[in-house]
Formats: sequence, structure tokens, C-alpha cells
Amino acid sequence: MILIVGGAGYIGSHINKELNKQGFETVVFDNLASGRKELVKWGELIIGDLGNIEEIRNVFKKYKIDAVFHFAAFKAVGESVTNPQKYYKNNICNTLNLLEVMLENDVKKFIFSSSAAVFGSPQYMPIDEKHPQNPINPYGETKLIMEHVLRDYSKAYGLKYVSLRYFNACGADLESEVGEWPGSSANLIPMVLDAAIGRREDIKIFGTDYPTKDGTCIRDYIHVTDLAVAHILAFEYLNNGGESDCFNLGNGRGFSVKEVVDMAKEVTKIDFKVVESDKREGDPAVLVADSAKAQKVLGWKSEYADLKTIIESAWSWHLKKS
Ligand code: UFG
Repeated sequence: MILIVGGAGYIGSHINKELNKQGFETVVFDNLASGRKELVKWGELIIGDLGNIEEIRNVFKKYKIDAVFHFAAFKAVGESVTNPQKYYKNNICNTLNLLEVMLENDVKKFIFSSSAAVFGSPQYMPIDEKHPQNPINPYGETKLIMEHVLRDYSKAYGLKYVSLRYFNACGADLESEVGEWPGSSANLIPMVLDAAIGRREDIKIFGTDYPTKDGTCIRDYIHVTDLAVAHILAFEYLNNGGESDCFNLGNGRGFSVKEVVDMAKEVTKIDFKVVESDKREGDPAVLVADSAKAQKVLGWKSEYADLKTIIESAWSWHLKKS
């Protein structure tokens, strides 16, 4: 049995689908702070909080857990700056509780949801695993601290983990069974679709004089189903005796904010209002992943890298849920 912590969330729900599709049995543990029970379509949902260690212990008593996939974390970069306590407590202390119960039960396989935010301001592009790690916000800091914890637990306690650093996770399941809950995210694509559907008045482009081809920021948008597949491959890698390791996950190709907005207009056929606005603090001009290591070691390859497929899948889900 695989325990998916945070399996009622955006990324966790896609991993739950993929694991079940590939014949694994899953159980989801989630406090529903941002997750939705409607997104738990496979396996039992146990509502509980990582802050309460007894609630975690109860799950391990009820099920014979073989491995844990962990997605329960806060992820709003701006909020992590204004309310770091919330981030350090949840993303670190609560994850330590989870690891503690895993070790008590001799469960030694862990797949960790990390982020490109562990790198901070890019020093070269594309970003590979050797890039220096200097997070520039508490959110990135929590992910990096957890990577260090995992490294040390691995040495001391024999924990086997894979940490996957997502670049810009986006899109939705192509069958629209799960997706990102509309109105719940401040990321670019869901915000653009909110503008298209009329939930927002407009979409603001944060900065138009970056040193890029059209002056707007470039990001590496990676489809959530491609991410889900990478998690299964990482799990298989551990099952085959692979050593604990970290991998960057992106397509190695960036799209600008303007390209995203234009593609969203094409896909939705709605001419929503776009406002050119000031830069957002802390946004690097370009962020693109080098995922050669994941390709080589895990045998991973993205399948839904084109922007149209990404936005079409997100839009279908958005329409279904709005
Ligand atoms: N953007 C806008 N308008 C908006 C929202 C975003 O122009 O309303 C721009 C941003 O300035 C940025 C791009 O769209 O250039 C993407 O922004 P997101 O907020 O969607 O994503 P980020 O690249 O800022 O951050 C993402 C994840 C973080 C993670 C980071 C790692 O959301 O969790 O990638 O690189 F830490």
C-alpha cells in the first residue's frame, strides 16, 4: 500500500490516478486545508493532520504502508515571505513528524515533492542538479532544508528517497478526472483561465521589460501528468535498488508570459482583458530546467510538453468545474 500525503491536492491527485492506473494500491492522508475530497477518486481518504503525530500513527496501524509520496506543503511564494512561520511549521516540522512515524514502522521509501525554488536566482541556464542552491524566499528554503534532512536521514537511518524538483507544474489530467481546483491558485495559467471565464476582471502581466524575446518572463511549464509519471519512475528506481537522489523536472524549453496569454486566448476563444503591470519582486527573467539526469537515470521523458496541450487540458478541467 502506498500512502499519498496531500493526495487531495492538485499534484497529489494526479499521482494517485497514475499509481492506480499502474496497478498500485493507495491511501490518501490529507487535512483538506487546500485539498478537496472530490479529487480523491482512488483509494480511501483519511482526513488528518501531519501536525498531530497520533493521526499519522493511526494510518500506519490501519494499513501496511510500503512507501510514502509526500505532497502536503504550502506553496505560495509571496505568502511564505509575509508568514514564514506557517511555512516552516507545515513544510518542515510536519514533514519531520511524517518521517518519524515512517521510521517507527520501518518504512524506508519516500518520494518528496521539491521545487526549482531550491536554486534561487539562476546563475546559468538551463538549471541542472549541480546548480548552486541559494533559495531567495522561505518557501524555497523549506524545500531545501527538507532535502538536507532527507540526505542526513538517508545516511543515518537508511531511508531511501527521491526528491523531485518541479519547475512550473501546470495543466490537468487529459480525461478531466482531476485538476487544479479553480480559484485556488495564484499561478499564471489558472489565473489566466480565471480571467477567461470571468472569475477575474483581467490578467496582469508582471513586467514587460525583461531581457527576453518579448520582454516578459520565461518559465519551463511542465504538465502535471508528466510529473506524475516521473514519480512512478522514481519509485520504481528505488524499488530496483537505486540510491537516494534529487532530480530536476522540466521540459528544457521555456514559454514567455505573453506566449501563455496568447495561447490561452486561442484555446478559450475568449478575448479577456490583459494589463501590463509592474514587475513582481523576486522573479528571475528566465527559468528553464535541464532534466537530462531524470531522462538518463529514471528513463523519464515528457509527453505533453506543448503549450497548447497544457492549456487545453487545464481549460477543459476549468470548464468542467466552473
Ligand atoms: N505571472 C504574471 N501574472 C500573474 C501571475 C504570474 O505575469 O498573474 C508571471 C510571473 O511573474 C512569472 C510567471 O508568470 O513570470 C509564472 O508565475 P507563477 O507564479 O505561475 O510561477 P513562478 O515561476 O513564480 O513559481 C513557480 C511555482 C513556485 C516555485 C517556482 C520555482 O509556483 O512554487 O515556480 O521556480 F517555487
